[in-house]
Amino acid sequence: MNSLDGKSAFVTGGASGIGQATALAYAERGARVLVADVDADGAQETLRLIGLGDGEANFVNCDVGDAASVEAAVNRCVELYGRIDCAFNNAGILGDMSLTADCSEENFDRIMRVNLKGIWLSMKYEIPHMLRQGGGVIVNTASNAGMTGTPELGVYSATKGGVVMLTRSAALEYARSNIRINCVCPGLISTPMVAQQAIDYPDAVANFTELEPIGRMGRPEEIAEAVVWLSSNAASFVTGHPMAVDGGILA
Ligand SMILES: NC(=O)c1ccc[n+]([C@@H]2O[C@H](COP(=O)([O-])OP(=O)(O)OC[C@H]3O[C@@H](n4cnc5c(N)ncnc54)[C@H](O)[C@@H]3O)[C@@H](O)[C@H]2O)c1
Repeated sequence: MNSLDGKSAFVTGGASGIGQATALAYAERGARVLVADVDADGAQETLRLIGLGDGEANFVNCDVGDAASVEAAVNRCVELYGRIDCAFNNAGILGDMSLTADCSEENFDRIMRVNLKGIWLSMKYEIPHMLRQGGGVIVNTASNAGMTGTPELGVYSATKGGVVMLTRSAALEYARSNIRINCVCPGLISTPMVAQQAIDYPDAVANFTELEPIGRMGRPEEIAEAVVWLSSNAASFVTGHPMAVDGGILA
């Protein structure tokens, strides 16, 4: 039920953290994976790890904030594998932490471009292929920060709330076209993004960890499991759902 044998999977932000773990999990379930990222070195490491498990994967350089780049990357998936069965639209950045009145316009635009426009562009170019081939599954990465307010991360939080709404809206639009669209809302997950944040804002990250009811940070593999399940036929009646995988934060 959870097998993705013979499927193709497109993963943005697959060079690191949650995206890398999910690319590996897709490959372990039998999918051929296209890693789309701006970080070629990290992506090569993802490909190496997938190769160790005898999986098949390729890399395409892709900036999710750029329409032409996303269109070309999605087309590359179809060129390579003949179809795009699963898409994990996951690339994202945290941006600088600041109070709302102190946030620069540059910071606002940078976070919006990757986290919100990037998800929209990814779906915009994936969906026509899925319609043509008769169906598909999309999982977007939102955050627990997309469901509640997040002091000093207001713009990040707004983009993630936006991802939830893009997900729900698109899920309703394509529910009768055999395209399921969900998102995951990770809590605090141990990835390079959070490691960097701990260096830049040590006090804030200590507070975040205390917010985890389960008493620890999550592992990228724990998000990957949810994404693979949402992408598989085991989740055939699930669409438009923001799935919390957050150690209980949203509870
Ligand atoms: N780590 C957490 O605690 C956490 C919690 C909630 C949500 N998230 C979300 O999960 C997703 C993955 O985060 P992560 O923690 O694995 O971070 P990460 O920094 O380890 O990985 C992010 C990946 O996205 C890529 N990327 C960044 N900008 C890009 C662009 N313009 N085009 C293509 N690729 C780009 C990076 O190169 C990197 O490979 C993000 O959307 C993040 O907001 C993370």
